[in-house]
Amino acid sequence: MLWLPLAIILPLHSYSQSTTRHDALERPIDRRTLVTRFNPTRQDTISATTPMQVGNGNFAFGSDITSLQTFLPFATMAAWGWKNDSLPEGRTHTDVDGYQGVKWDNHGRLVQYDFGGPPDIEAWLRGSPNRVNLGRVGLRFWSKENVVLNVTEGDLQSAKQTLDLWTGTLTSRFKFQEEEVRVRVVSDFETDTIAFEIQSELVRDGRLGLFVDFPWCEGKEKFSAPFVGLWHVPEKHTTNITLTSLSARIAHRMEDSLFYTDILGDKFSVVRHSPTNHMYDIRPLEGGRRPPTFSLSVSFSSGSSAPGSKPPPSPSRIFAASKEGWERFWTGSGFVDLLTGSTDPRAEELQRRIVLSRYLMRVNEAGDTPPQESGLVNNGWFGKFHMEMYFWHSAHWALWNDWDVLHRSSSIYSRFLPAATALAQTQQGWAKGARWPKMADPSGRSSPGEINNLLIWQQPHPLIFAAYEHRAFPNKATLRKWRGVVKATADWMSEFAWNNETTGRYDLGPPMYVVSEDTSPNSTVNPAFELAYWRLGLEIAEDWFEKLGEPVPRQWTRVRQGLAPLPVDKDQQGELTYSVYEGIEQAFWTDSKYTSDHPALVGLHGWLPPTEGLDLSVAQKTARKVWSHWNTSNCWGWDFPMLAMSAARNGFHSEAIDFLLHREFQFDDIGMPIGGTRVPTPYFPGSGSLLYAVGMMAKGWDGNPEGRIAPGFPAYGWRVRVEGLSRAL
Ligand SMILES: *[C@@H]1O[C@H](CO)[C@@H](O)[C@H](O)[C@H]1NC(C)=O
Ligand SMILES: *[C@@H]1O[C@H](CO)[C@@H](O)[C@H](O)[C@H]1NC(C)=O
Ligand SMILES: *[C@@H]1O[C@H](CO)[C@@H](O)[C@H](O)[C@H]1NC(C)=O
Ligand SMILES: *[C@@H]1O[C@H](CO)[C@@H](O)[C@H](O)[C@H]1NC(C)=O
Ligand SMILES: *[C@@H]1O[C@H](CO)[C@@H](O)[C@H](O)[C@H]1NC(C)=O
Ligand SMILES: *[C@@H]1O[C@H](CO)[C@@H](O)[C@H](O)[C@H]1NC(C)=O
Repeated sequence: MLWLPLAIILPLHSYSQSTTRHDALERPIDRRTLVTRFNPTRQDTISATTPMQVGNGNFAFGSDITSLQTFLPFATMAAWGWKNDSLPEGRTHTDVDGYQGVKWDNHGRLVQYDFGGPPDIEAWLRGSPNRVNLGRVGLRFWSKENVVLNVTEGDLQSAKQTLDLWTGTLTSRFKFQEEEVRVRVVSDFETDTIAFEIQSELVRDGRLGLFVDFPWCEGKEKFSAPFVGLWHVPEKHTTNITLTSLSARIAHRMEDSLFYTDILGDKFSVVRHSPTNHMYDIRPLEGGRRPPTFSLSVSFSSGSSAPGSKPPPSPSRIFAASKEGWERFWTGSGFVDLLTGSTDPRAEELQRRIVLSRYLMRVNEAGDTPPQESGLVNNGWFGKFHMEMYFWHSAHWALWNDWDVLHRSSSIYSRFLPAATALAQTQQGWAKGARWPKMADPSGRSSPGEINNLLIWQQPHPLIFAAYEHRAFPNKATLRKWRGVVKATADWMSEFAWNNETTGRYDLGPPMYVVSEDTSPNSTVNPAFELAYWRLGLEIAEDWFEKLGEPVPRQWTRVRQGLAPLPVDKDQQGELTYSVYEGIEQAFWTDSKYTSDHPALVGLHGWLPPTEGLDLSVAQKTARKVWSHWNTSNCWGWDFPMLAMSAARNGFHSEAIDFLLHREFQFDDIGMPIGGTRVPTPYFPGSGSLLYAVGMMAKGWDGNPEGRIAPGFPAYGWRVRVEGLSRAL
């Protein structure tokens, strides 16, 4: 719980200027020094829960202390690596394709939802497809007598691993049987390939090489953390190897899914460890160079990708590509320097979180589809992604101006448009528009479940992404590109709002779930956060069509203007605050049933800009009441940046920093966001929301107090330098 002064000083619109003005003569931020200051290092001990990774956003490789997967089977994962399980016993494809859940009443009309149907089919639809671990690559040691050694971590001396963030290079050094070994590993930026180089006298003697191995993957468990896949059921899947003069290709088949691993580089021999498992030993053939090194590229691809694809790049090209790609990333977009000149001791840890989050988001969350909560580290929710979380994972790319990255996944809305239109109209019978799914896979299919199908706050997100893109690229091409998505999104929003003839207002729900997922869907009506988000979204859509020079659909304006007012609650002293939804029991502030999950009430002024009808003083009182009444021990991940943004916009700058460093909001030694009490580690919405909040607090937001540099940061003790960021809405 935060300490709160009894007398609250509301923000005055005159600020002292200890955060310095950005001087035109000031030297640019020394980004390299600030980034490499936080290069993670691990010594002697392995973390059994979080791997140091290399990757390109669409593909990532998690490593143990050897910078490979020698002792621990951390995952190799990609945005494209998926597999269906076999169908439930006795079921056919016709059963699955014909799945239907229940019909629930929606204001006199029955709506077909994806829950309440046959449990076995629903379990299959949730667990399939599931994201696979593409394979394991580790060091293999041989004895002088040419026997494979069973080496454990304890057999290494002086083991040390570092990650050079500036070049995306993992380096491990250790001694094995008195011989020095150095391993360096990088990932390509374009293809889904790692390259490594092993340097040791053991290589010359042919005593140090590699193994690759492949697990069985299935969607039986919702969470697969810290490791993904089963290694003890080799009979369930098959592998084989094909050799060409240049490379080796291992084909891995799991039921209907096929994956390839291509290996090339220095000359090597390869043998299958045993016909009853899927382990292959790879040994250098020529170790005569000085210093003796062994370099290979190991490339992963889907067997369903186009045949005749180019061979993977050589190790030396990948080492060059990693250096070049990471330098481009660190120098080519936004940067925040809190350290050069701040005296507040909290600056160091916040800067560390920023730098490490920037790295991890680029490795795990820069792919072709929205990321899953655990990125490419391990599996949560079977590897699927959540469209309501896409804002927290990826909106920061807009503020930090990483548009090349954001463009890859934000096209998900146009790709999902046919499926979302079918969900809204064909299945659910709405007259117009598209309803975005919540939990999905790259096909756009909505996963069954009551919450999955009754949540609505994912719906306005594409309008926010579109708005940011238009601010960065204010031209007709942007307007046309998003037109179909904007129209379908706003159409469904205005369809879903129900015209209550008694009151003459448009109501949201029932049935529906709110952000915190903890109210009864049948009695939830006019929730505060969703009403505000609906207003903001419809306003963006109307503006879009005006800019396009097209008539604004009248229904959008009618609904926006007629939406129910934000629900308010009056306590015994007559103090007004907003309440979760209209008609929720007055005692909700003191009922742990309602104060233990996402406190979206603070999002009304913080995460969201002020929307029509918002009373700023009521919003401020609401935020403070949340601080004192919510059980923050139960909050997790993006809750804290959301609380920080609310504090910052309401003028409580020091509290905003405290929220970003809250004891329930931790990042481990390599910057992995700890899941906390509610979800496994890592939980990347925490990292994405941290970067969004920092971007907003550093660069500002529409209508922030005039003349204030870094308007979300405290005026004293902080010197915030900003380059290449864009302001928040
Ligand atoms: C899984 O099965 C569905 C049909 O139920 C199909 O559309 C999809 O392409 C399959 N996905 C994979 C990865 O095999
Ligand atoms: C909500 O309403 C539906 C019918 O519209 C009913 O089947 C369901 O049991 C209700 N749920 C609760 C929690 O009352
Ligand atoms: C390797 O050694 C470890 C520790 O001594 C032992 O637990 C494990 O069973 C051994 N594995 C094999 C394959 O011999
Ligand atoms: C290797 O496996 C692939 C994929 O299952 C299959 O198409 C191919 O025929 C196999 N090759 C051999 C030589 O068994
Ligand atoms: C219309 O709104 C009023 C006031 O909120 C509410 O009591 C009533 O139930 C609504 N009508 C319907 C049919 O939902
Ligand atoms: C707050 O949540 C924590 C963690 O779940 C729990 O142990 C504690 O009892 C809760 N406190 C209150 C006042 O409900």
